[in-house]
Amino acid sequence: MSQADTLILLCRSGFEGECASEISDVVAAAGAYGYPKLEKGSGYVCFHIQGGDAVDLVSRIRFDDLIFTRQWFACLPGLVDLPPKDRLTPLAEQVAELPQCAEVVVETPDTTDGRELQGFGRKLASALAPYLRQHDLMLPRKSRAKYRLHLFILSGREMFVGVAPVNNSAALPGGIPRLKFPAAAPSRSTLKLEEAWHWFIPRDQWDTELAPGMRAVDLGAAPGGWTWQLVKRGMFVTAIDNGPMNEDLMETGQVEHLREDAFTYYPSKPVDWMVCDVVEKPARTTAMVIDWALNGRSRNMIFNLKLPMKQRYVEASRCLAQIREELDAAGIRGILRAKQLYHDREEITCWLSL
Ligand SMILES: C[S@@+](CC[C@H](N)C(=O)[O-])C[C@H]1O[C@@H](n2cnc3c(N)ncnc32)[C@H](O)[C@@H]1O
Repeated sequence: MSQADTLILLCRSGFEGECASEISDVVAAAGAYGYPKLEKGSGYVCFHIQGGDAVDLVSRIRFDDLIFTRQWFACLPGLVDLPPKDRLTPLAEQVAELPQCAEVVVETPDTTDGRELQGFGRKLASALAPYLRQHDLMLPRKSRAKYRLHLFILSGREMFVGVAPVNNSAALPGGIPRLKFPAAAPSRSTLKLEEAWHWFIPRDQWDTELAPGMRAVDLGAAPGGWTWQLVKRGMFVTAIDNGPMNEDLMETGQVEHLREDAFTYYPSKPVDWMVCDVVEKPARTTAMVIDWALNGRSRNMIFNLKLPMKQRYVEASRCLAQIREELDAAGIRGILRAKQLYHDREEITCWLSL
């Protein structure tokens, strides 16, 4: 059993309460107990496991099941008063209590202050990794390790060092993909759909799951950021929106624009993809998705649930549970996942694959 009794969970700033409620439920369901400590706006949650083993929990709980956690790791209690002249010794003492890793990932909170610490973090990690190897606390660079070492920096004096399984955590630091806004895309929303694909569709399946010639419906499509992504993959898109679509996009010949209501429109034949970015009550979007699923209108769906100001975790859980229950009752098998993406604001993005 490892000495690690703490989970660190990185989330969108302002969503620490949702992240804490969710991890409390999931840890309890895994048969362990603990309590969260959080500060609103900090971009992370610290969860203390009582008498438990946090390394065991980050292996047993499925990272993909967490909606509000973008990244996580198991660690000992944070180092709070690191001497600026020797940070490596106390860090190495904690690393000695953890499973061995072959790489260090530097992370900071996704806040203005946090982003300013990234340069410092990189420098510290580039000193830490050789130091750990010299002291036999880290595997050679190219070894196949089960865990990655996470160095999470709050300031020059305060940081956490911990581990997360390579196959059960976000591959990218902080769970944040560095996507470049494509100059030709009609809106910044375009990055939400691209990020969703990165989270939900393994890269080696893009050629089959996002293939040229597929047919897609984009509900609430204007001005066309999501349609642009579908068109870029070579798909033919029916764009549903009363608002105007970007003219260059319409000139591709791959888009049919219908000024219809997203909640009553349905395609005459099943399509490969339905995506929906309409700003609506989550319960209404949920009912529409269930209707599409039960009627076999699309095999794959990506949709946003715009969350209300209060009870955001409760509302998100309720909607996802309802989709699962209705699919089960109808004997339809599918995968349903949800994540609050880096490009999401007061919303989460969901993927349903039937
Ligand atoms: C957030 S915007 C979509 C942005 C789009 N995904 C993009 O990337 O450019 C929401 C869109 O939903 C449309 N909308 C809202 N209610 C709708 C409804 N009932 N039927 C169709 N479109 C609707 C709005 O006109 C608006 O263009």
